[in-house]
Amino acid sequence: MTRKTVRIAMNGVTGRMGYRQHLVRSILAIREEGGIDLGDGSVLWPEPVLVGRREQALKAIAERHGLDSWTTDLDAVLADESIDVYFDSQVTSAREEALKKAIAAGKHLYTEKPTATGLDGALELARSAQAAGVKHGVVQDKLFLPGLLKLKRLIDGGFFGRILSVRGEFGYWVFEGDWQEAQRPSWNYRAEDGGGIVVDMFPHWEYVLHGLFGRVRTVQAHAATHIPQRWDERRKPYDATADDSAYGIFELEGGIVAQINSSWAVRVNRDELVEFQVDGTEGSAVAGLRRCRVQHRSATPKPVWNPDLPATETFRDQWQEVPDNEEFDNGFKSQWELFLRHVATGAPYDWDLLAGARGVQLAELGLRSSTEGRRFDVPELSL
Ligand SMILES: NC(=O)c1ccc[n+]([C@@H]2O[C@H](COP(=O)([O-])OP(=O)(O)OC[C@H]3O[C@@H](n4cnc5c(N)ncnc54)[C@H](O)[C@@H]3O)[C@@H](O)[C@H]2O)c1
Repeated sequence: MTRKTVRIAMNGVTGRMGYRQHLVRSILAIREEGGIDLGDGSVLWPEPVLVGRREQALKAIAERHGLDSWTTDLDAVLADESIDVYFDSQVTSAREEALKKAIAAGKHLYTEKPTATGLDGALELARSAQAAGVKHGVVQDKLFLPGLLKLKRLIDGGFFGRILSVRGEFGYWVFEGDWQEAQRPSWNYRAEDGGGIVVDMFPHWEYVLHGLFGRVRTVQAHAATHIPQRWDERRKPYDATADDSAYGIFELEGGIVAQINSSWAVRVNRDELVEFQVDGTEGSAVAGLRRCRVQHRSATPKPVWNPDLPATETFRDQWQEVPDNEEFDNGFKSQWELFLRHVATGAPYDWDLLAGARGVQLAELGLRSSTEGRRFDVPELSL
């Protein structure tokens, strides 16, 4: 096997997502498996160059994982001709500028979502990447979750008949940071730093709905900041200026109605941190991160509303588990492999910067809908 190296400048690897999901669980995991078999007698070998603001933190990560390249100089790494791909998992507010520089330097791009803080910026990125002829991809990891892959299998197999509605419930309690440390970075709760649950989660809901059920045609949302004060990483109080909860209704192509609650101020009474219930004429399913359960039309009970009697059935036990039937890899890694294959061989790849712009568009319209108390059409985007 010949080895083809792909050098990736990874910016933001000191962060939560950059380190755990992208470096350790994706790029280093691919290396542990010997690289990506391209099927032509060659193997693609990712070579990360760690990029960030703090030299010591980068050096520590490099040493921990036996890596030898890191830098705090983004311009220098982009000027380096041996770098093929620029990857960005920085805080959202720092992304657009860095991606623009990478496009100007002629690098292929792979990036976390949201791709920019506004639709104009996101579309400009997509257009200039296209014009520069570089390959581009945006993280859409939820599509690769085992639970949602099983849901996709049910849809493709015609299980649901006509799909009527989707109910999504996402969230958990994020500690305020005073008496217990917050489990998410504080910038997420400051609008001026690119925070907010609409900006964070609506891009995910856009590609999940679009990828599984159809394009989002309208949006109506109510965003709220339920917890107005939080404590940061230094235990200093700050005003939470961004929304921490969003209640959204989305009308999809074909008339499917989707309703998704997203909240960092909710206590979990579910089996998983995100769950989607899909109801169709022939059957229903509840899919989470890993599991998926179904109830067919033929096995649907017939409850009768009577508040005078205690519940006579255990409704949740009446659902049937969808088997794995295959091994599921980490979703971030699966998507990295597809993107790197796209870079190396030109294999098709749908989840690009235009798809990323659709996510930013839905977040922008969702926030406007909340502020103005109106429902908005979601115009179709093109390059
Ligand atoms: N795909 C997903 O499921 C998912 C989940 C969480 C977050 N994200 C996205 O990933 C990105 C990073 O999120 P995270 O939770 O890893 O954040 P984080 O705060 O843990 O990491 C942020 C990274 O950006 C760097 N950075 C650059 N400029 C900065 C600045 N001015 N202030 C602070 N940090 C700066 C930090 O050094 C760090 O490496 C965000 O854009 C977020 O929307 C995606």
